Order: sequence, then C-alpha cells, then structure tokens
Amino acid sequence: MRKNIVAGNWKMNMTIPEGENLINEILKESISNQTILIVAPPYPNLVTTSLLLKNSKIKLAAQNCADKDKGAFTGEVSASMIKSTGAEYVILGHSERRAYYNETDQIINSKIKLALKAGLKTIVCCGEVLSERESNKHFDVVSKQLKGMFDGITPTDFENIIIAYEPVWAIGTGKTATSDQAQEMHKFIRENIKSAYGNEIAENTSILYGGSCKPSNAKELFNNADVDGGLIGGASLVAKEFIEIAKSF
Ligand code: PGA
Repeated sequence: MRKNIVAGNWKMNMTIPEGENLINEILKESISNQTILIVAPPYPNLVTTSLLLKNSKIKLAAQNCADKDKGAFTGEVSASMIKSTGAEYVILGHSERRAYYNETDQIINSKIKLALKAGLKTIVCCGEVLSERESNKHFDVVSKQLKGMFDGITPTDFENIIIAYEPVWAIGTGKTATSDQAQEMHKFIRENIKSAYGNEIAENTSILYGGSCKPSNAKELFNNADVDGGLIGGASLVAKEFIEIAKSF
C-alpha cells in the first residue's frame, strides 16, 4: 500500500548553521511510523543534514539534479553526487525550475532517468498555472506534463517515483486549492498512471499536494482518498508547523 509522505522543500533558504538549527528542532518531535518525513535542504546543506539525520527516521532529499551524467558542466550537481551525500530522494520538475530555469518535460525526463539510475527516489512535480485553470485547461496541461516526464519510464521505475501535484497559483501565494480541487486532480493523475501502468502501480503511487499547505488546511487536504501527503514550502521552514502538518493524517 502507498505511504503517507510529508516532504519539506526549503528552496533557497537556510545557511548551514540555520539548517542545522531547524533539523535539531525537527528531531525533538516524534511522528507516526506510518508517515515518511522528508527534508529537502539546498545542496550545500546535504552532507551536514545527512549526518544529523543518521540515527533518525527522517529522510533526505535534494531539490534538483543535473540533466547530465558527469563532466564539464560548471555549476551543476549530478544525481550520483547527491546519492553520495546520503540523500535518498530528489525533487524534480518543480514549477520554479520550469518557470525560472526553462526546464521542459524533456529535460525533467532526462533528470528522472539519471536520478533513478543513481539509485535515488524521485518526487516529480506537475501542475498548471492560473490562466490554464481559468481556461479549463488544467487536466490537459497535467496529463501532457505526465506523458512527457514519464516517457520511457518503466513499471519497475515507478516503485521509486512519487508525484507532487502543485497548482502553480497556490505556491507561496497563501491561496490553497480547495479540498475538492485537490482530490479531483489527484484522482485524475492516478487514473492517468493506471491507464499507462496498470491498477496496482497506480494504487501504490503516492501523490502529494503542494501549494500553501499549512497546519490549518493539511487535515482537510490529506483526508481525501487520493491525497497521500504534501510537498511543503514555506511552512517547512518552521519546525512546529512542519511537524503539525506531518501529524495531519
Ligand atoms: P509553498 O510551496 O508551501 O510555500 O506554497 C510549496 C512548493 O513549492 O513546494
């Protein structure tokens, strides 16, 4: 059966000492064994965070990886380098990567393949912008993203794939999708996976909601049949809020 997952995406926040403080605060709290808690700090914090998390159940993720294996790509960080820090997961295709760094579904597809090859689990993001929702194109947009990102991805690969639905208009805006909007899209995504990979894989894939998820709305969102947790931005920078969200199942 699929897992409940709460992942904190720190984005470009937290110096190494600030990140250590946040992790130490999170480590003081306890959460249910049924929930997988993941933190995704910036690259420079991965090793220090990995050491701090050594004896805990909390998992470590990177926020991105290169679309190339290795070599002369100044400034890039490869999937195998991430793996060597002790991280188990990588977030790929976040809307901020698409919007500010021109990542296409094709680039994200290459990254997914390299990350899986390096032995990482991937948290793959999708979601529509406001104008697409307002013109009723959100289902088409998301299904096109899934098709492009998962091109050539096998059923076995899917064991290491988590999907995050993040309506772009809800990210960092304080405006959350309603519980019904989230459930409707999550169900649609699961049906998409079902038609491509079959019922068993679809039922075993965790689909997370992201976009202004906070302690006050997490319960209602996570209560939906097809919402298996959250990808949390702003609220993951405050230990108490992050933990409260993780206790919302
Ligand atoms: P937010 O970000 O929780 O700050 O809206 C979510 C995300 O971008 O993953």
